[in-house]
Amino acid sequence: MTWSGECKYTWAMVSQVSTHYRLRGRNILLGITAGVAAYKAAELARLLVKVGAQVQAVMTPSASEFIGPMTLQAVTGRPVRQALFDSQHEAAMGHIELARWADLVLIAPATADFLARLAAGMADDLLATLCLASEAPLAVAPAMNEKMWRHPATQANMATLAARGVMLWGPAEGEQACGDTGPGRMLEPAELLQRAVSAMGGGRFAGRRAVITAGPTREPLDPVRFLGNRSSGRMGYAIAGSLAREGAEVTLVSGPVALECPPGVERISVETAMEMHTAALTAAKSADLFVACAAVADYRPRGAADHKIKKGAETLQVDLVKNPDILRDVAALPDRPFCVGFAAETERLREHASGKLRDKGADMIAANPVGEGLGFESDDNALLVIWKEGSLELPRQRKGRLAEQLVSVIAERMDAQATA
Ligand code: C5P
Repeated sequence: MTWSGECKYTWAMVSQVSTHYRLRGRNILLGITAGVAAYKAAELARLLVKVGAQVQAVMTPSASEFIGPMTLQAVTGRPVRQALFDSQHEAAMGHIELARWADLVLIAPATADFLARLAAGMADDLLATLCLASEAPLAVAPAMNEKMWRHPATQANMATLAARGVMLWGPAEGEQACGDTGPGRMLEPAELLQRAVSAMGGGRFAGRRAVITAGPTREPLDPVRFLGNRSSGRMGYAIAGSLAREGAEVTLVSGPVALECPPGVERISVETAMEMHTAALTAAKSADLFVACAAVADYRPRGAADHKIKKGAETLQVDLVKNPDILRDVAALPDRPFCVGFAAETERLREHASGKLRDKGADMIAANPVGEGLGFESDDNALLVIWKEGSLELPRQRKGRLAEQLVSVIAERMDAQATA
């Protein structure tokens, strides 16, 4: 596409693509029941995975007459769950845990029999039990013969489910596998994907791009040694995961840490402050939000030795030069994102945080007290969040929960700034 030439994308297409980020990192429990349309569940699972969702397929016992569990396992990358009393899978993630795990339960296809069991509140197989045990939004994509669909019993069941808040997606009208024509065809996978995107539309960062730096940096002294620090990266990773769940397209520029990349997040691994600077500035140019969570080394050795430094002399002088300040440089970009910095302090938290807000040109500083079991290597943290017009204290808690709260505050401030 060129700006002067013919533009192949319409605005509707662009906005549709960007809303797909709402499913990034979201957990979707895909229920498959015994209908001919079950073969389309593989394509639906593929589309969901493609947009960054985590998909767990759960089949009713007879669904495997229509589609092989291996196909769904290959597409989703997870073993398919089928039996309620399956000790092997229950040990890994019990059915109640699985019900809690889901952000959305989508039954596609949903047969007349399954809808009846759902309406009656049965728990006679794993999928029906999960529907009963889960508090996640539940959507059904009915698929059946048109006479079965029109039957008063099915219609009464649908009315019951609708009254309970179950989302009814379809069915479509058209030719059916049995040769009849009428309502009862399952909606196409692409249409179901779109419905799932809309259903998960609560993401406050849908369509927004975020860049986060996390972890420590390593500044080489020689080929085997470096100057580093104790940052675990946990806070930055939790923020990245939380933003992805809120629909953001997230780039995580990470120093060396022992953490898995959160689902739906793109990770760029770096070692030194200079590498982090280059990667973060490049990514931040097109971002809406920049969160500097990394513990960047303030100084690096002036030129690492080519060979291992030998011990000999009683003292050793290492010449250090200052690293660029990534946060300050991103905040100085012409079309800069909303910039959030961190400040780990052992004393006078508010004073130091206000100083950093000013000096670095950031929009927000999240300051955390270090010591007393809080900070770098701890699972817990507490934050004093300050911005120009106000501040908020987030009390001590798990870093994951804290990250969610911080992301909420960031969303509010970004919206306030946009409407100011
Ligand atoms: O100046 P100080 O290191 O205390 O500031 C901490 C904040 O600045 C953090 O958000 C950190 O990620 C960021 N920072 C940076 N580049 C540096 C040093 C710190 O982005 N070189």
